[in-house]
Amino acid sequence: MQDKLKQVKKFRREAVLGGGQVRIDKLHARGSLTARERLKMFLDKGSFEEFDMFKTHRCRQFGMEEKEILGDGVVTGYGTVNGRFVYVFSQDSTVFGGSLSETFAEKVCKVMDLAIKNGAPVIGFNDSGGARIQEGIESLAGYTDIFLRNVMSSGVIPQISVIFGFCAGGAVYSPALTDFTVMVKDKSCMFLTGPKVVKAVTHEDVTTENLGGASVHTAKSGVAHYGAESDEDAINYVKELLSYLPSNNNEKFEIIKSDDPPERADNKLNSIIPESSTRVYDMKEVIKHTVDYGRFLEIHEKFAPNLIVGFARYGGRSVGIVANQPRFLAGVLDNNSSVKGARFVRFCDCFNIPVVTFVDVPGFLPGTVQEYNGIIKNGAKILYAFAEATIPKVTVITRKAYGGAYCVMSSKHLRGDVNYAWNSAEIAVMGAQGAVEILYAKESKNAKDPKGFLSEKAKEYSELFANPYIAAKRGYIDDIIEPAMTRFRIVRALQLLENKQDSNPKKKHGNIPL
Ligand code: HXC
Repeated sequence: MQDKLKQVKKFRREAVLGGGQVRIDKLHARGSLTARERLKMFLDKGSFEEFDMFKTHRCRQFGMEEKEILGDGVVTGYGTVNGRFVYVFSQDSTVFGGSLSETFAEKVCKVMDLAIKNGAPVIGFNDSGGARIQEGIESLAGYTDIFLRNVMSSGVIPQISVIFGFCAGGAVYSPALTDFTVMVKDKSCMFLTGPKVVKAVTHEDVTTENLGGASVHTAKSGVAHYGAESDEDAINYVKELLSYLPSNNNEKFEIIKSDDPPERADNKLNSIIPESSTRVYDMKEVIKHTVDYGRFLEIHEKFAPNLIVGFARYGGRSVGIVANQPRFLAGVLDNNSSVKGARFVRFCDCFNIPVVTFVDVPGFLPGTVQEYNGIIKNGAKILYAFAEATIPKVTVITRKAYGGAYCVMSSKHLRGDVNYAWNSAEIAVMGAQGAVEILYAKESKNAKDPKGFLSEKAKEYSELFANPYIAAKRGYIDDIIEPAMTRFRIVRALQLLENKQDSNPKKKHGNIPL
C-alpha cells in the first residue's frame, strides 16, 4: 500500500514538472509564470481540484511514441475565485510548446461540459503553439470540439480567455468566441498566420508584435479587451471582472452591501458641462462621480475610445455602463464604437446585467471611410442590441443627443425604462449649424451677410430645439434632473426595475446585421 502511495506521489511530482525544469526556468527568465503558477495566483488558496493529471497523448508517430508527458500540456479542473466556483484550463507551453492534441482537447472539453452543466464560468489560460503538428486531423477535430462548446456556452455561462504567450492558427477562434479576451503586453500574441506565411503570401515584413501583439488587438482590431502589464496584472483584471458577473444566465445576482450612500449628491457634476457646447469634458468623470466608491472597470479602453463601456455598481448592484466620450471624436458613433457598444450590451443582456447609458453624442461620423466600412450595418448593430435587450435600461442624456444617434443610444423608443436628461441636454434632429444651412440655403445666398444671417438663424434654432424640454413634453424623457442628483436617481431607477419582466416575440433567434 505504501509503495502504491509513493508511486502516485512520484507521478504527481512528474506531472507538476510538465516539460521539465529547464523549460520552466526559460519561462521564468522571460518574466512569465508557468501554467500552474498562473492557476495558483488566480484561484483561492487550496481550492483547486485538478482533473486528468495522468492523461497522456495517444499519438504513435513522428517519435511521439517515446515522449509521453503526464497531463499532456494542459492543466484542467475547477476551483473558486473569491468563494465562487469557476472551471479552468491552463495551457502549458513547456510541454510540446503547449500544442493541442486529441487528449489535450478532451481535457478542455471535459471542464467545458461540466461548466455548462453546473452553471459556472470557464476561464481559459492560453499559451500554445497551436495544433499538435504530429497529430494532424485529431488536433483539428479537438479544436473544433472546443469551438462547438464555446458556441453552446455563449450566453449561458461567462467565458473569459487570457493569452499569456502564443495563440496561433486555429487556436485563435476559441478566445474569439469567448466573452472577454485579455492579453499581456510584449509577451502574448494572436494571429491566424505568422510573419513567415505573411511574408510568403503578401510580401509584407512584419514582426510578431506588430502582427498580433497586445497593442494591435487592444487598440486596432478590438479582438482583445485589456492589455495587461504582466501575468499578475492579467489575473487580477479577470478576478475583478468576474466580481461583476453572475455565474450563469439563470443566477439572480447578489446585490452586495455598499456603504457608499445612494443619496450622495455630487455638486461637481453641476459644473462639469462646459459653457460652450463645442468644448469637451471627460465622461469618465461623470461615471466615476456617480458609481459606488468611484470604482469603474473599463473594458476595451484602447479600442474606439469615443465610446466607453465597462462595469460598476450602483447601491451594490452590478451594472454595465455604456457612455459616449466627448474627449474623443466629440463622442461620435463610428463603425468601431458601434460594434463595441453592441457586443457589450448583448453580453449584459445575456446575463441579466442592467445597463446604464450616458449620452453625449453629436451623431454618426460622416464620410466615405465610414460608409465604405459599413456604418449603416454597424450602426444598426448597436441599435439592434439596445432594442432587443430586455434588461433594465436607464439612460441619462448629459448634453448632445442628435439625430440617429439619439435614437440608438438606449432611447425611450427602444424600450428604455427610465430616461433622464440633465438641464444641459440638447435633443434635436441635428446640430444647429448643419440644420440652418439646409433650411435657409436659398435665403442665405440672397442675404447681405450670409454668414451673419446663418449664425442668427442657428441661434434661433438652438434656443428652440437644443434643450431637453420638447422631448420631456412628449414623454420621451421621464424627467429633467439636476446633475448632482444623478447617482440617487440611477440607484432609485435600478431599485424600481429590480423585478422587471420583458420579453421579445417567440423566435428561433433574431438576425442581427452582422
Ligand atoms: C508540436 C510543437 C508545436 C506544435 C511547438 N512545438 N509548437 N510541437 N506542435 N504546434 C514544440 C517544438 O517542437 C519544441 O519541441 C517545443 O514545442 C518548444 O518550441 P520552440 O519552438 O522551441 O519554442 P519557442 O522558441 O518558444 O517558440 C514557440 C512557437 C514555435 C513560436 C510557438 O514553437 C512555433 O512557431 N510553433 C508552431 C506554431 C504554428 O505554426 N502553429 C500552427 C499549427 S497549425 P522540442 O522538443 O524541440 O523542445 C494550427 C491549425 C489549427 O494550429 C486549426 C484549428 C482549426
